[in-house]
Amino acid sequence: MNSSLAGQPRPIIELDSGMAFGCDYNPEQWDPAVWAQDATAMQQAGVNFVAINIFGWSHLEPREGEYDFSNLDAIIELLHEHGIRINLATATASPPPWLTTTYPQVLPVVEDGTKRYPGGRQAFCPSSPIYRHHAALLVEKVAQRYGNHPAVALWHVSNEIGCHNAHCYCETSSIAFRAWLMERYESIENLNAAWGTDFWSQRVSDWSEIFTPRLTLSSRNPGQSMDFRRFSSDALLENYRLEADIIRRHSDVPVTTNFMVTAHIRNMDYFSWTADMDIIANDHYLDHRLGEPTTELSFAADLTRGLAKNDPWILMEHSTGSVNWQPHNPAKTPGEMMRNSLAHVARGADGVCFFQWRASLQGSEKFHSALMPHAGEDSELWRDVVALGKTVASLAEVVGTRVESTVAFIFSWESWWAVDAETRPSESVSYLEQAHAIYAAIHALGTTVTMVAPGSDLSGYDLVIVPTLYMVSDDHAGVINDYVGNGGHAVITFYSGIVDEEDRVRTGGYPGAFREMLGIRTEEFSPLLPDQVLELSDGRTSSLWTERTTLQGATAVSSYVDGPMPGGPAVTCHEFGQGRAWYIGTALDQDGLLNVVRTALESAGVKPVAAEADASLEMVRRSAANASFLFVINHGQQDRSLSTAGYEIITETTVSQSLIVPAGSVRVIREEILP
Ligand code: GAL
Repeated sequence: MNSSLAGQPRPIIELDSGMAFGCDYNPEQWDPAVWAQDATAMQQAGVNFVAINIFGWSHLEPREGEYDFSNLDAIIELLHEHGIRINLATATASPPPWLTTTYPQVLPVVEDGTKRYPGGRQAFCPSSPIYRHHAALLVEKVAQRYGNHPAVALWHVSNEIGCHNAHCYCETSSIAFRAWLMERYESIENLNAAWGTDFWSQRVSDWSEIFTPRLTLSSRNPGQSMDFRRFSSDALLENYRLEADIIRRHSDVPVTTNFMVTAHIRNMDYFSWTADMDIIANDHYLDHRLGEPTTELSFAADLTRGLAKNDPWILMEHSTGSVNWQPHNPAKTPGEMMRNSLAHVARGADGVCFFQWRASLQGSEKFHSALMPHAGEDSELWRDVVALGKTVASLAEVVGTRVESTVAFIFSWESWWAVDAETRPSESVSYLEQAHAIYAAIHALGTTVTMVAPGSDLSGYDLVIVPTLYMVSDDHAGVINDYVGNGGHAVITFYSGIVDEEDRVRTGGYPGAFREMLGIRTEEFSPLLPDQVLELSDGRTSSLWTERTTLQGATAVSSYVDGPMPGGPAVTCHEFGQGRAWYIGTALDQDGLLNVVRTALESAGVKPVAAEADASLEMVRRSAANASFLFVINHGQQDRSLSTAGYEIITETTVSQSLIVPAGSVRVIREEILP
């Protein structure tokens, strides 16, 4: 669904009031006496959109084939009466105990071949025909009953599909995996070639000899592991499609599911899912295991926007305070919920939703924050929620506007999977860390990127960033090479272009597919040992990785002073065709990375969003034909000032020349558009 028609912003979901503000609501956990209080308090907070029925299966179908919709009917009517629109889940996220007791073969099996039992959630094999059959029966009932209900504004298929059960290794999965492989390879010979089974006597002569890649004594066949990842992502997508197809027979309301574009989830190749989504929705939780988590938030929000093809999207879940599933779960600091929420909005979200409405009293998530905390309405947190609700409502005019950027950032789930494989040159090279590192440099320089899948058309961009694109097909590499040849600018980081989509190494020297375009040739990788830090000729340092590289037309931007290749190039630049490309052959320190990215941005003529933007003053612009909104998020401890003119929406003030953004605050300026 394209939200902007001839530059005119249009909402992605039909709500009576602008931006979506809401939460998951799990009324099953509460006495019906609480429901009416909930609806009233939701109105007070400005909640206009709630997700219900996410974990409703055991209530809707308490015994096989026996349905009871009375509570769901009542909740839907109550919300409707209070003018709250519904994001209606299909309830298939977690099968009820009767299903796995009656049909234990539905239960998932993990890598070591052991079963996982009910008692948590998502306890099913995604390929199970029995699970699919029962899920489809339930979805049919739900869609038939509520498909035309005026309160339903969005369909929410299952929940965080693949969060826990992405990889099932059971016999049913093996059978489904074989069918998937037959379709992909058509013959067993093709499969042998693709998996390189001549290595270690792994040649198979019949499909029945193929299984899911359960734990082995040594490392597993990388081709098998890669295809299993692809298959598993597709199997989960099939589950989504099964439900979406049923819903679409009964309802014209848009259908989606909540993605998990967030640091620790990597099992779904969401670029291959988006064509099936009417709108893109994401769940994001700050990951304190990453140290400073706000840049990751921006990364995830930009990647979600990339999945939405730059259209607006919905933040379906985040948290008002702490989560309960990390080793340590800090509460949010004052203003942090506002900053996090509006950072998502700045990067294209047209809705700010949370998990969950009321903090649970029991169950695994009882210490997870919510809009209504255990402390009740007399709490800072609740007052912050009400304030956030007002702010989100004041941003109604932003709905439908878009974030535009002339910098593309290529993100690849397949490279993520392949780089993090069991055997590799260095276990310290993590795809996501490398992608985050170069993103952090761009972010600190106040530039916004558009995330795209490998193979995407790059012709409209001034600069393309290609982090660690280890696995890339000839066609997709060709798009990047042609883009540079035709006058584009690119920055490519180490361990890119190495293998094709069958994980087959390109010979003749690294970085394989990009060697000619980059004007370099690497004969050998030489990853560094942990804690090894090298000096570079420009006074900066590097770690993690080096390569024995020779220049074949490129010039050295910086070289190694010490380490395995003293004098060898660390960063290079090459004029190729009409364009220019940099290669970063090592993990540069922060300053080194900033320097290369800054040079590339300047060379490509890319300007920051505003001169004042930096790592702690995050600035992003959303715009449409006749409107422009500058989001300014001050993550720092100091007040900051910037030159701007227009109307500041949060404080309702006219700005003529400059604006102070207090430490920890957010401002949104409706900019003056010069005629
Ligand atoms: C999500 C999930 C919610 C809740 C939340 C807690 O993974 O969709 O149901 O568990 O996390 O952070």
